[in-house]
Amino acid sequence: MFLKFPENFTWGVATAAAQIEGGAYEDGRGLSIWDVFAGIPGAIKNGGRPDKACDSYHLVERDVEMLRELGVNSYRFSFSWSRILPDGTGKVNEAGIAYYRKLIELLKKNGIKPNATMYHWDLPYQLQLQGGFGNREIVKWFTEYAKVLLDNFGDDVDFWVTFNEPIATYVGYGAGFFAPGLHNEKYARQALHHLLLCHGEAVKLFRSYNFKIAKIGIVVDIWRHYPGRPGNAEDEKMARVSNEIRGYGMFLHPLFLGGYSKDLLAYFEENDLMPKTEEGDFETIKQPLDFYGLNFYNGLIDNAEKMREMQKARKEGGNYQDRPESHPEALLDVLHMLVDKYHLDIPIYITENGLPYDDNEGKEANLQDDRRIDYVKSVLHFAHRAVEEGINLRGYYLWSLMDNFEWSAGYCARYGLYYTEYETEERIPKKSAKWYSEVTRANGFEE
Ligand code: FCB
Repeated sequence: MFLKFPENFTWGVATAAAQIEGGAYEDGRGLSIWDVFAGIPGAIKNGGRPDKACDSYHLVERDVEMLRELGVNSYRFSFSWSRILPDGTGKVNEAGIAYYRKLIELLKKNGIKPNATMYHWDLPYQLQLQGGFGNREIVKWFTEYAKVLLDNFGDDVDFWVTFNEPIATYVGYGAGFFAPGLHNEKYARQALHHLLLCHGEAVKLFRSYNFKIAKIGIVVDIWRHYPGRPGNAEDEKMARVSNEIRGYGMFLHPLFLGGYSKDLLAYFEENDLMPKTEEGDFETIKQPLDFYGLNFYNGLIDNAEKMREMQKARKEGGNYQDRPESHPEALLDVLHMLVDKYHLDIPIYITENGLPYDDNEGKEANLQDDRRIDYVKSVLHFAHRAVEEGINLRGYYLWSLMDNFEWSAGYCARYGLYYTEYETEERIPKKSAKWYSEVTRANGFEE
């Protein structure tokens, strides 16, 4: 059966600055926390570094050519804060502005709508030295940065995203396997509170411009956990903690319902983790948004017993995609949850979805990536169903345009529609690139 998507459906691909740009030491760019983190022995698998990555700093024309080949009508990328403001605040780096101007112009010339994220995990190192997100001053720093972006690119960007997956800051400050590599949950909880304030202030600032085209939202990933043995107290608790205390609940509740959830507050109390807040904070955080970006990769079944074994075997880096099971049907449930539990009545975009291949599988297997095609089809099946069930789902962005620097997993996890030859920076279309280009052109696919 042919699954046709609504007219004007957005088809895109996504990337992020630290993962593709490289040019880490060029034209006045400052260091980001990922540049520094990558220098810690063992922090990144096989010692991968983001210095050169896919060299998109120099290959932007080729990137846009690929977008045209794919037939996408939108491209999701992120700004590198330390390329724009090398010290995080103060002096603007004109070469950085020029780079993004060129990218945006090329996109527009080709009818591809920019979807730009202000912050995709790469804090300027200079700001980390002053406490980073742990310092409430970050709200001022971020607002200054947002103003530079909006002054320069405001209505040239169709979709603005304040933050991508705030949870990465929790991981980086609390669990240590993302930059900046700290292990202090109290600090992490405080950092997240400040991050949400940054979001709120940036949205308020955005509204003051009265843009005609530009819209603004946030991207929160949802890995919904389900108890493996319903009724089993241990499994039920595990799923609840993963969802409410360490997962999407810690963001969606303050963003859309206001304040922290009862579960989260109780957890803060019990563990002496209550973040410092000021009057008015929760009003600032809960700003009306124009859209919500959902990064969806999988649904997870928590079986406490099995988890204990997996934990032992867990590879460093990467995300939960090292779980063997695939639960694309969770997408439908997650979308309904956004509406039913969090009362979302704004357009929703799937801003990331994809599947990694391991570099070890070899180039040939990576190029013939049927597993990826099958997986994306299975997710799109439920996306289509969601639209039929009345969910206001407006678009889908596949992660990623090309293989890139996959954070702590370095260059070992390949997510691209294009295979990146890191030696030469050649990008070679995989089987999935051809398939996806047919989907975007037909606005649907044959199941
Ligand atoms: C998401 C990140 C993105 C990429 C994919 C695989 O969590 O937002 O940068 O790493 O996972």
